[in-house]
Amino acid sequence: MTGAVTPGSPILPDTATVRPGRLVIGGCDALDLAARFGTPLIVYDEEHLRQRCREALTAFPGGVSYATKAFSCRAMAALAHAEGLTLDVASAGEFLVTRSAGVPADRLVVHGNNKSDAELRLALDQGVHRLVIDSADEFDRITALTGAGHLAADAWLRISPGVTPDTHPSIATGHSRSKFGLPAGAAATDRLIERMLASRSVRLRGIHMHLGSQIRDLRAYDVAVRKTVPYLRAWDLPELCVGGGLAVAYTANETAPSMASFAQTVDQACGDTLPAVRLSCELGRWIVASAAITLYTVGTVKHTPDGTTIAAVDGGMTDNMRVALYGAKYEVLAPGRPQGRERPVTLVGKHCESGDVLAADVMLPEDLAAGDVVCSLVTGAYGYSMASSYNRLGRPAVVFASGGRATTVLRRETPADMMQLDVWPSPQEES
Ligand SMILES: Cc1ncc(COP(=O)(O)O)c(C=O)c1O
Repeated sequence: MTGAVTPGSPILPDTATVRPGRLVIGGCDALDLAARFGTPLIVYDEEHLRQRCREALTAFPGGVSYATKAFSCRAMAALAHAEGLTLDVASAGEFLVTRSAGVPADRLVVHGNNKSDAELRLALDQGVHRLVIDSADEFDRITALTGAGHLAADAWLRISPGVTPDTHPSIATGHSRSKFGLPAGAAATDRLIERMLASRSVRLRGIHMHLGSQIRDLRAYDVAVRKTVPYLRAWDLPELCVGGGLAVAYTANETAPSMASFAQTVDQACGDTLPAVRLSCELGRWIVASAAITLYTVGTVKHTPDGTTIAAVDGGMTDNMRVALYGAKYEVLAPGRPQGRERPVTLVGKHCESGDVLAADVMLPEDLAAGDVVCSLVTGAYGYSMASSYNRLGRPAVVFASGGRATTVLRRETPADMMQLDVWPSPQEES
């Protein structure tokens, strides 16, 4: 294993213990899990998930939403709900997953920059906690739907404060050219707020913003909150949701801000001018990212003429798109190998793309060989939820580990699952 990753490291799940040749999570030995459930396998530390929910709620007593897009399944929705969080859903699919986990509609925060009428109807009729209105067009459609008999909603208006945080451009959302929300400072934003306040289709409770994801520099939140507070003051709105986006460390050398410093930053920015506002946040990555590891089995090891060692595993870009999408970096361990001589290895997947890389130049044992299990760390956020079935590989299984027991929460996707969508030849449509 890499010497840098030691127990207690923020890139390991909270309950992980690491000893030469052994990695234990939630009381379950990683190699036993790989043997029992097969690989690729995503293992979440359930205790870690619960602790993150609790820590966030302590920091934000005004409310915390779990952003289900980071990792969506019924077990996770039920866990976040049981821990007292509301749940952010951004599509009918996310809505139904959470509802079918037993989460009441009035614990849902409904998002989306282009919600369909069907999605709006769901939110209106089921009476969600907050419907986050993203555009004037959407407000017009809500007005038409409530005019046609659907119920009025408690709403937030999403504002884009015109702040570019220190993150990858693809996951920066709070800037002035954003496709999300209405720009702060624009006359159109004021006009929409006035229309919303005069409307019987919505009860405007406050303002929502979300600056982006994997944000390290908290000054972005400070600036954004200070730009948003005037809206609350001008229209006497009692609620501000500052979104999510708090960064986590992915590698042993990275650092990330603490939850307490995040809360303190927004609290101060708001409290200086508007102490009575109800502040909430909406976290995905921070809750789930470092709770999980992904186990893979090495299938081949190659040595290129320039001295690079390439190890190919049985998953790849279909279970972790983040490397190809954002150039994300990961740390990899070989749980079955005692600590020893190490060499840089590029860990690749089994897909038909050269960009199918899971981690470049990670330190792995000199004698890494076919059949070894390796594990990628901090894979709990935007891995499974962005997974695809490219090359018809099928999505991995996911287990929650706790107290020495592992429970399957998402079973492995099989070719038979994929064939269910493939309806050719369709008898009804044949002429
Ligand atoms: C509206 C909204 N809220 C919250 C989040 C969660 O962000 P993160 O997972 O970085 O905390 C996202 C993710 O992009 C989002 O779009």
